[in-house]
Amino acid sequence: LPIVAVVPAAGVGSRMRSAFPKQYLTIAGKTILEHSIAALLCHAEVARVIVSISPDDGYFNDLPLANDPRIQVVFGGAQRADSVFAGLKAATDAAWVLVHDAARPCLHQEDLSQLLALRHTSKVGGILAAPVRDTMKRAEAAGCAIAHTVDREALWHALTPQFFPRELLMMCLERALNEGANVTDEASALEYCGYHPLLVSGRSDNIKVTRPEDFALAEFYLSQRT
Ligand code: CTP
Ligand code: MG
Repeated sequence: LPIVAVVPAAGVGSRMRSAFPKQYLTIAGKTILEHSIAALLCHAEVARVIVSISPDDGYFNDLPLANDPRIQVVFGGAQRADSVFAGLKAATDAAWVLVHDAARPCLHQEDLSQLLALRHTSKVGGILAAPVRDTMKRAEAAGCAIAHTVDREALWHALTPQFFPRELLMMCLERALNEGANVTDEASALEYCGYHPLLVSGRSDNIKVTRPEDFALAEFYLSQRT
């Protein structure tokens, strides 16, 4: 069965404060969305990409990749999880699915390979993640005094792609959404249902373009490629 990637790209990018959604900003002649999709389609094991765009999107159809037969478009929803769910519904032929933020253009093939290999060893799946490097403090309830230092050894930044059996992910997302759980990535939906997805240590340059300063960083990382 093929591996299908779902790319949520229906956000407005409010923190980026650009004139149009950040996934359509251009780096080195291609939009951020095109870089993110290319990193997935480059991989021999990824068969297709399903992109969730906003029903109001006025940009996607002008991209050259809008005519790529390996790319399918669906309409996303109000929350990231709704957009992901819409994509998963369309991935009917996939046993395992990748979910990758449209706003993460710097994904490397080696990281993707490591993540995809999980399907041979795990029934639950997992995520790319980067170890936390800073010393971490927990604040007291009031907010501005330190309660204590949190053990950094056990902390990871959750990245994407995230990779799960499609039916398991859909079941967990549906339950978590119905029960109002706080689901900010796919793994948190599985955690909510009692599963323990694996952490695959990935490159820390796989950043999400979130704020204006991230754009320059992504531009730099992409310029380092040969
Ligand atoms: N996303 C989506 N549907 C939504 C919200 C977000 O498909 N309703 C996508 C975004 O397009 C992005 C990814 O989820 O590729 C990660 O979300 P984030 O970085 O938060 O993007 P935005 O929601 O667009 O940005 P912001 O939160 O600053 O408004
Ligand atoms: Mg958002």
